[in-house]
Amino acid sequence: MLRYFTAGESHGETLVAFLSGMPAGLAVDQSFLDRELWRRQQGFGRGGRMKIEKDTAHIVSGVRQGKTIGSPIAVLLENKDWKNWQESLPVEPGDPGKHKRVASPRPGHADLAGALKYNFPEARYVLERASARESAARVAVGAIAKLFLRELGIEVLSHVIAVGQACLENAEVAWEKVKALHDRDEVLLNCADPAAEERMKAEVDQALRTGDSVGGVFEVVAHHVPPGLGTYAQWDERLDGMLAVAVMSLQAVKAVEIGSGVSSALSFGSTVHDEIAYSREQAKGGFTGFTRASNHAGGIEGGISNGEDILVRGYLKPISTLRRPLGSVDFETREPVKAAYERSDVCVVPAAGVAAEAMVALTLARCALEKFGGDSVHETLRNFEGYKQQLQKF
Ligand SMILES: Cc1cc2nc3c(=O)[nH]c(=O)nc-3n(C[C@H](O)[C@H](O)[C@H](O)COP(=O)(O)O)c2cc1C
Repeated sequence: MLRYFTAGESHGETLVAFLSGMPAGLAVDQSFLDRELWRRQQGFGRGGRMKIEKDTAHIVSGVRQGKTIGSPIAVLLENKDWKNWQESLPVEPGDPGKHKRVASPRPGHADLAGALKYNFPEARYVLERASARESAARVAVGAIAKLFLRELGIEVLSHVIAVGQACLENAEVAWEKVKALHDRDEVLLNCADPAAEERMKAEVDQALRTGDSVGGVFEVVAHHVPPGLGTYAQWDERLDGMLAVAVMSLQAVKAVEIGSGVSSALSFGSTVHDEIAYSREQAKGGFTGFTRASNHAGGIEGGISNGEDILVRGYLKPISTLRRPLGSVDFETREPVKAAYERSDVCVVPAAGVAAEAMVALTLARCALEKFGGDSVHETLRNFEGYKQQLQKF
């Protein structure tokens, strides 16, 4: 079974990601991992931290001579900012006078809930782990999952649908357009429509001007996914459920939508469900000859992939660290004060989309391995080939 964990604090020495269950013989392209990490660091509205960190994946186990060997993979991501925090966050007892307190909890962040839970007098250790710096570790192992999925012909990318009030008018974006976004060297807001992207930029500009923050919606698209991943057979094996957990587990994601699930709930069935047809032409090139008139289901029916693109949207709340802070209480005196401010992003919708791609890729890779098995990629591909033939004969 594909499993992954992360460790590491925002200003600690290094992040650590751990991935086990990846079959042997998968070529691991270091430049691809680093490009994915770079993509997570981009976007208009990021804070000063992203100017310090230039993430690179340092693989220390599970990959030899450029290929996975079936053993657990461990990846280290150095925090360049650590040199500024060594004295205030030492592993050993160190000098308590050098500790950098977070004196008043930020509404919307983990500060208060975390301090209460772990019995900390203030929130430094809480934000160190709750921070979305952790998502870089997920992107590193997610990139390996993406390389595995590529072997099966599956690709996973994302684009931005909304930032604050600025929305993409036609949110049905063709795969070629999402792919073209991925090739850009300037990410800006990762939106497929330049006019909508300008409106999104104006929302971020306003937040920057006023010391505020802004959230939004991203969409992850998984392309060329075969029918048959996930199952309705048991509640926790449903693909939609697994994807919802995976994407919701990202910092600041407060809702997940599969396909057009939200608007579908407000519509009549006749306008929602994707009519089925059959094309003998498509049967030659695709997994099957079954076609759909639309993809409101987002590629999943009954908890199973149905052969259409999988569409997962994440709704991101605005960042909780505000330059013009909201009201809070001093942890020590209990007097009303403004919430703590520490260098922060203002808008992270494109970056969250990249982190969500990693979570979707890890989920699909897990489901694909459950379906096709294999201790080597060679074995997985042989089993996948057999399944494709079965689909062709259906
Ligand atoms: C890519 C990314 C970057 C983030 N950067 C910040 C940040 O700079 N400042 C901040 O207050 N929150 C940031 N967040 C959000 C917080 O990590 C998150 O709100 C916090 O951990 C509390 O968790 P919750 O929002 O899921 O309840 C970021 C989230 C993501 C996905």
